[in-house]
Amino acid sequence: MYILGIESSCDETAAAVVKDGREVISNIVATQIAEHRLYGGVVPEIASRRHCENIYQVVSAALEDAHLKLSDIDAIGVTYAPGLIGALLVGVSFAKGLSLTSGVPLVNVHHIAGHIASNYISHKELEPPYLCLVASGGHSHIIEVSSYTKYKVIGRTRDDAAGECFDKAARTLGFEYPGGKFIDAAAKRGDPFAFSLPHPRVQGSEYDFSFSGLKTAVINLVHNASQKGEEINRDDLAASFQRTVCEILVGNTIKAAVNGGYKTIAVAGGVSANSGLREAMQKACDEHGFKLYVPSLTYCGDNAAMIASQGYYDYISGKRAGLDLNGIATLPLDKISV
Ligand code: KG4
Ligand code: ZN
Repeated sequence: MYILGIESSCDETAAAVVKDGREVISNIVATQIAEHRLYGGVVPEIASRRHCENIYQVVSAALEDAHLKLSDIDAIGVTYAPGLIGALLVGVSFAKGLSLTSGVPLVNVHHIAGHIASNYISHKELEPPYLCLVASGGHSHIIEVSSYTKYKVIGRTRDDAAGECFDKAARTLGFEYPGGKFIDAAAKRGDPFAFSLPHPRVQGSEYDFSFSGLKTAVINLVHNASQKGEEINRDDLAASFQRTVCEILVGNTIKAAVNGGYKTIAVAGGVSANSGLREAMQKACDEHGFKLYVPSLTYCGDNAAMIASQGYYDYISGKRAGLDLNGIATLPLDKISV
């Protein structure tokens, strides 16, 4: 069964064809990062306009690369939530037009469910139930994945997402947007124990995250040093910052796995590309005898293959979208119905 996936929730216009939920036949991503970088972050209106300009070519290229016609496609899976509303509406409207003219069924896919599915592409043997940490630019969630379409979010960020914290710390350290990967590279050269940074705790929920205090600590360190005319070793601060974020992400995830009796852990989202996180999570999983799954680097960031993969599981579970499908900017994963 072939699913065409379409993704436009943020700053990547993406389309892909995936066979039976696991085998990527084509995967096209048109990124807008270079343009948004000029503004230090994603500018929603520019993102919508670029999606509008690019989506036809991106979807056509995904079908062409797959050597398939629209009539060969069993269903169209499109990201409808959460994300930038103007950006989502481009993908949703385009997918509705395609479905209407071709008669191919339409399936609405939740973006976070898509990130979770990225591990189905990279690991053919992975099956629910398992515990998944999703850490991206917009989200930091610990999720009980009980089936391919049933989720319970048991931990979430109370303020900044992990990727957002990486990007803000990176900006303070003088790196370009999005700075997560630059912190990752600098951390390899620095001493992770050079600085001691706060591990903010969240009252009342043992699995929730709070990253804004950590971001502020980095900003204060850099500003105080510059006021005193002191030089801060950027690699050391990057390494210490990364160690702290990883300790927080890994700590909460492992605690949730132990308490919930999970033996299998997955990590997904843009931050799952971080080498420090992959290493720290692997070490913790080895110590506890847990099996760890992380996506291959191609599928960590936003892409449409993960949307097509989840679209397959949604489709075979009976989920369908009508021509009244709308984009939704904010929609908790465990509030979707299949
Ligand atoms: O999943 P994603 O592509 O988009 C969202 O859905 O938000 O995640 C983007 C985030 C950005 O904050 C980016 O800095 C971060 O993922 N990221 C990284 C790395 N690569 C991307 N953060 C830390 N280390 C990396 N290697
Ligand atoms: Zn994403």
